[in-house]
Amino acid sequence: MSDQTLAYVEKDGTWLDARVTSRDAENVTLETLEGQHSFTIPADQLLLANALPEDGVEDMTRLNYLHEPALLSNLRQRFARDHVYTYTGKICIAVNPFNWQVSKPLYEEHVLLKYLGREMGEQPPHIYAVAEDAYQKINSHASGGGNQSILVSGESGAGKTESVKIMMQYLATVSKSGDQNKVAQQVLATNPLLEAFGNARTSRNNNSSRFGKFIELQFDSAYKMAGARVHIYLLEKSRVVAQSEGERNYHVFYQLLAGLSADERAQLHVPLPVAEYRLLGQSGCVAIEGVDDAREFRRTRDAMEAIGMSALEQLETTRALASVLLLAQLAFEQNAEEQASVAAAAADTLQQVASLLGLEQAEDLSNALTTRRLVTRDDVVTVPLNLEQSSDSRDALTKSLYGKLFTWLVQRCNEKLVDDSAAAAFVGVLDIFGFEHFPINSFEQLCINYANERLQQQFNWDVFKSEQAEYEAEGIEWKYIQFIDNQDTLDLIDRKEHMGVLHLLDEECAIQKGSDEKFVQKVRDRHKGHAQFEVPKRDQMTFTIAHYAGRVTYTVIGFREKNKDTLHQDLSAVMQDSQSAFVRELFPMADAAALGSPPQKGGPRKHKGKSADKMTVGAQFMTQLGVLMRTINSTGVHYVRCIKPNTKNVPAVFDMSHSAHQLRCAGVLEAVRISRMAYPNRMPHAAFLSRYILLTTPAWREAHSAAVGAARGAAAADEAVKAMCAEALAQIVTEHERYQLGRTKVFFKAFLLENLEQRRAAALGVYAIMLQKNALALLHRRRFWMQRQAAIRLQAATRRRIARRAFCATKAAAIKAQAIFRGERA
Ligand SMILES: Nc1ncnc2c1ncn2[C@@H]1O[C@H](COP(=O)(O)OP(=O)(O)OP(=O)(O)O)[C@@H](O)[C@H]1O
Ligand SMILES: [Mg+2]
Repeated sequence: MSDQTLAYVEKDGTWLDARVTSRDAENVTLETLEGQHSFTIPADQLLLANALPEDGVEDMTRLNYLHEPALLSNLRQRFARDHVYTYTGKICIAVNPFNWQVSKPLYEEHVLLKYLGREMGEQPPHIYAVAEDAYQKINSHASGGGNQSILVSGESGAGKTESVKIMMQYLATVSKSGDQNKVAQQVLATNPLLEAFGNARTSRNNNSSRFGKFIELQFDSAYKMAGARVHIYLLEKSRVVAQSEGERNYHVFYQLLAGLSADERAQLHVPLPVAEYRLLGQSGCVAIEGVDDAREFRRTRDAMEAIGMSALEQLETTRALASVLLLAQLAFEQNAEEQASVAAAAADTLQQVASLLGLEQAEDLSNALTTRRLVTRDDVVTVPLNLEQSSDSRDALTKSLYGKLFTWLVQRCNEKLVDDSAAAAFVGVLDIFGFEHFPINSFEQLCINYANERLQQQFNWDVFKSEQAEYEAEGIEWKYIQFIDNQDTLDLIDRKEHMGVLHLLDEECAIQKGSDEKFVQKVRDRHKGHAQFEVPKRDQMTFTIAHYAGRVTYTVIGFREKNKDTLHQDLSAVMQDSQSAFVRELFPMADAAALGSPPQKGGPRKHKGKSADKMTVGAQFMTQLGVLMRTINSTGVHYVRCIKPNTKNVPAVFDMSHSAHQLRCAGVLEAVRISRMAYPNRMPHAAFLSRYILLTTPAWREAHSAAVGAARGAAAADEAVKAMCAEALAQIVTEHERYQLGRTKVFFKAFLLENLEQRRAAALGVYAIMLQKNALALLHRRRFWMQRQAAIRLQAATRRRIARRAFCATKAAAIKAQAIFRGERA
């Protein structure tokens, strides 16, 4: 017979709701609620369901049964009731509703105001609370506050960028000085600007960020927003020249063509319909449903105005964009000797590009695209390129131009917004690409997954290691909780002494005759046998890394080129000779002295020294990430984990298996487990004694109350106070395994503190009742005496009146009798 207990069973990687139908000592049989399928599992693998309130539980660390399906069910239940946010301790989980109708009420001003000055947990879960927590902590230097960072993670389309914008809006609002806070407005304007140039439609998100960003929001000593510094990571440049079917190039190109007038387009030489530009038409997708590119262009322009870009800078930017579009239109032809030249039909386009880029001689550009100058011992030789090489050269310049424009734009924002002199502290917000695993994974995925490994390590450190470090410092005995430490994987990728994959790649890039084949062989030879490394048998051009979030096989074709990412010196030199100061600024001198490139004969003298441009992409990224992690490490860290509830980006669908994978990647389950398995609450000895002394016996209390009072001023690690604490605890808590006494603090297992609080409240209640009783008795006694006195006085007066009345009557009667008697006698 069914005992109606609800539980979960796993089937094909997902969790199904089930009920227990029978069980014995070894096995349990369950029946799924939907479809009534029967499963028998070992009794020790039974995962029971929590009895959830209608709205689920706001903080999942409070769930009774704690396992993956329990967390998922809670999230699903909350999602069904339109609750976007749920806590796991201090981690905020945001499940993307894909529906602004649902979430809009969450961001109204009256809601925002409720979070102002409040602690996390006082109001329903919200990213406002996370932002508020960070904001409160920047102005509490004394209690270990200072700089803060909020790390927002999640896969593409999970809602990272929107969450960041919502939190930035919150911070701008709470730190406003008066209504017209120009700085805050400028800081917020970076969002539409960076989105126009760095976001694109992909198969997974119509507004996918194709770069990572860390924005330091600076606050002055009065905690008003003073400025911001934007750091960006790894813009996906390959998108500029090629997009998969159904995807788009960067939004700004479509905005430009939709938003400019016919005249303006003619002046920029871009009069054709969108689909006729090679960069925009090849993927078969030029529009996004519900997005008006012309309107978006106005927003982008407004943003440019807001951050203070001059009219000339705006014009230069649009000219650079038009030249990117036109450059890609250049077609080549080749002769019988396979020597390429710009196709006759593209001669006009060549002139137009040259004019937009401020190049005096269009031939300089066509020569740089179709030939290579090689330096021999005593001469410079010009080698013609074939059609394919020339096309590659053109694409390299196109990507480089766009990439440099994006970097320039970010620098421009920083020039306007950074205010280090006013900044007293910052809240950094990180919006970075989530873990990626595609059917074919390339160099970009390796970098992205490497970044996620580093962030995961930080998360591990914050949640697990710092906890363990405190237990160790306090001398608390506890069983180490197993968690996935990914240091090994990081070493495999970036450790120089171990010849990590990125270092091997750099080495291969430095060799003139290097190749992707040789690189993969070196990686395989060097790391064969590493616990996190695998060699796929079937494809010789691949290797597999076991990341914390799953195994990913990387295909190394193109790794060398992508890592080098150097623009040939001939092309840089042409750009350097531009008449336009703007173009020369985009292509600084050091650029032309690319890795291993020969000195220029007769050309301008190039700078020496190692600029970021001379480093490989991998080396640059390792450095950037190192700096980022050090910054984050020196701040108080807050986490927002975004979950994409389904892959179709539709509202109201919660796909259990897809969400489960993301929860695993985010390390949420382990985070809950550790805070529940260990000692989630702690309190300094003296604070414990003064708060809970009233739970000790009256005799102990009497003997120690003076010492407990004095303990408040004692040093944190005072042996006498600790001994007193031990005595008090022994009396108050009978289950001694539920607490431990550290060097300076008492550590409580889950729920013990709540229990002590209840008992304290009850004890305070008893005292209150006694006080009330005595006070009431006194009042009653006093009233009784007063009533008694009054009664006696009343009785006396009444008696007197009666006696008097009787006396008067007797007296009158006597007088009457005397009178009669006297009358008869006379
Ligand atoms: N709070 C929200 N309420 C309603 N819809 C949302 C919310 N957050 C995100 N969305 C929807 O999800 C889409 C994707 O969100 P977003 O662009 O922030 O994802 P992302 O995590 O930054 O993805 P990527 O890594 O591709 O940049 C948004 O365009 C929006 O339609
Ligand atoms: Mg994004």
